[in-house]
Amino acid sequence: MSDDKQTPQGFASNGILYGITRRALSVLEWAYNLSLSDPRVPEPVSELPEITEIRDHALPRTDISDHLLPLFLEAMAVHPQLIVELGVRTGESTFSLERVATLCGSTLVSVDIDDCARVSTCKNRTFVKSDDIAFARKFPDWCAERGIRPEIDVLFIDTSHLYDHTVQEIKSWFPFLSQNSKVFFHDTNQRRVYYRQDKSMGIGWNSDRGVIRALQEYLGVTFDENVSFTNTWKGWIVRHNALCSGFTILERLNLTSPNTRRGGSNRSSSRDNDFNTVDMVQECAESRP
Ligand SMILES: C[S@@+](CC[C@H](N)C(=O)[O-])C[C@H]1O[C@@H](n2cnc3c(N)ncnc32)[C@H](O)[C@@H]1O
Repeated sequence: MSDDKQTPQGFASNGILYGITRRALSVLEWAYNLSLSDPRVPEPVSELPEITEIRDHALPRTDISDHLLPLFLEAMAVHPQLIVELGVRTGESTFSLERVATLCGSTLVSVDIDDCARVSTCKNRTFVKSDDIAFARKFPDWCAERGIRPEIDVLFIDTSHLYDHTVQEIKSWFPFLSQNSKVFFHDTNQRRVYYRQDKSMGIGWNSDRGVIRALQEYLGVTFDENVSFTNTWKGWIVRHNALCSGFTILERLNLTSPNTRRGGSNRSSSRDNDFNTVDMVQECAESRP
């Protein structure tokens, strides 16, 4: 019996067999993608040069190439002051987030257990080499030392993809989210073979639904991550793109205008405030005739 579990670094067990399988899948991927006619059409020039840069950067197909432009645009819409990126590797997500940071004057904090300091030269970015759970414990002090409010407007999570670790990431980092925050999870539909928007195939690995299980548990729902959807749960608008290994965006479902929110500030974090959007949904429901 073979264990189907792999790791991003390689195959966890029975190395030779997995190595052969992996190689066979790579050949299949190459042949399949070669057989596709290129459906990508030239886009009209955008008013933001950053969009063209990101489109060009996303041309080589990767497990996150479909999501680099949505990540940029969705993060821009928050006009964030503080962006935290968990999981950097070669800096695909950094490419989008550093452009948001530059345009919005945000602070970008990139965290990885490996040294990924050199993937970006963005002046607004600080790289922290650390386990992200350990760093979350130090985060308030780390921010205080730098005069930064520990209120995260954009949180991007793309690390081990393991269930226990993702549960810990949600527990450790969500208390720092601001009232207008967005959270981005990559690899919420992780599988051995995945497809992109342009119908090309990619080879991934089986994390035993680690990220999506942790997210479903947090939201208190089960859904089919093979299907793209938009819904609301637990005070969040949840938008899930099933393609390209899965990308899920959580956006605060703020039902009142920023000026009338309790506390009078739209920058209070959930840690400082025992009131959240679940309460607001409840209040709205109760006030209906
Ligand atoms: C899938 S890669 C990130 C890809 C990156 N977001 C991109 O778009 O290119 C996962 C990264 O998470 C890092 N990582 C894994 N476990 C971690 C942990 N506990 N704390 C911090 N980083 C971790 C790995 O070193 C690796 O660089």
